[in-house]
Amino acid sequence: MNPPQRNIAAYYDAFYRDGDFPHYSPAVTRSVLAALSRKIGLPPGARVLDVGCATGYYSAAFSELGYDVTGIDISTTAIETARQRHPQLRFMQGDALASLPEGTRFDLVFAFGFSPANTEDLEQVRETLRQLAGHLRPGGTLAFLGGSRLTGSVTPSSDWHNHRWKDITGFAPATLRVTGGPWLTHFRCLHLLPLSFSLSAPLTHLLRWLPLPFERRIVLLLRATPSA
Ligand SMILES: C[S@@+](CC[C@H](N)C(=O)[O-])C[C@H]1O[C@@H](n2cnc3c(N)ncnc32)[C@H](O)[C@@H]1O
Repeated sequence: MNPPQRNIAAYYDAFYRDGDFPHYSPAVTRSVLAALSRKIGLPPGARVLDVGCATGYYSAAFSELGYDVTGIDISTTAIETARQRHPQLRFMQGDALASLPEGTRFDLVFAFGFSPANTEDLEQVRETLRQLAGHLRPGGTLAFLGGSRLTGSVTPSSDWHNHRWKDITGFAPATLRVTGGPWLTHFRCLHLLPLSFSLSAPLTHLLRWLPLPFERRIVLLLRATPSA
């Protein structure tokens, strides 16, 4: 483990010792993931990798929808909690960019809020997505969710990401093509709206142009190109 990863692991160990993310209601999450799976055309029983799976919330929801899920997270505390909460599921502790056995392939790599791809540094985003794509079956999909305020201005005190719209459309590395999105939503909206509505052009445009001070969530679907 290199030093930044050790810091991330230590940060999240402490975070999960004290609590967890305020997740959506399970019913909303099920409808969100079902809509996402339909958009991708994910067949029943397909293999899903949940990278940065935290305490297993999304992994459990995918499993309930009938998918064969593996969750991986760098935080030991997260994985211990995930195993206690969902003993029937498969979880791995480790760096998702280094610990997965060579040749392990999935139909969907689900990277929601995955720290190495959720950063200001565009090159790092592309490189992380390229590495994750190495675990896709031919034709498999990488689902990315990150955050941005879309301002384009980075200040030393920025505590969030500020990609410009054209940066976001350029997240995809050469081995992947964009097959869905980018859509914008707002974290809190997902409490209220099914993803089939959130992932829509009208809402994207509304959220893109409204001068809202808070961050938007970006969702992108990227498919492995045949030669990848
Ligand atoms: C912002 S949280 C998102 C958790 C969850 N995916 C969600 O959306 O609720 C980021 C997660 O990624 C994990 N993480 C960060 N770097 C990682 C890495 N290199 N490999 C595996 N997990 C990592 C962290 O431990 C943390 O649980």
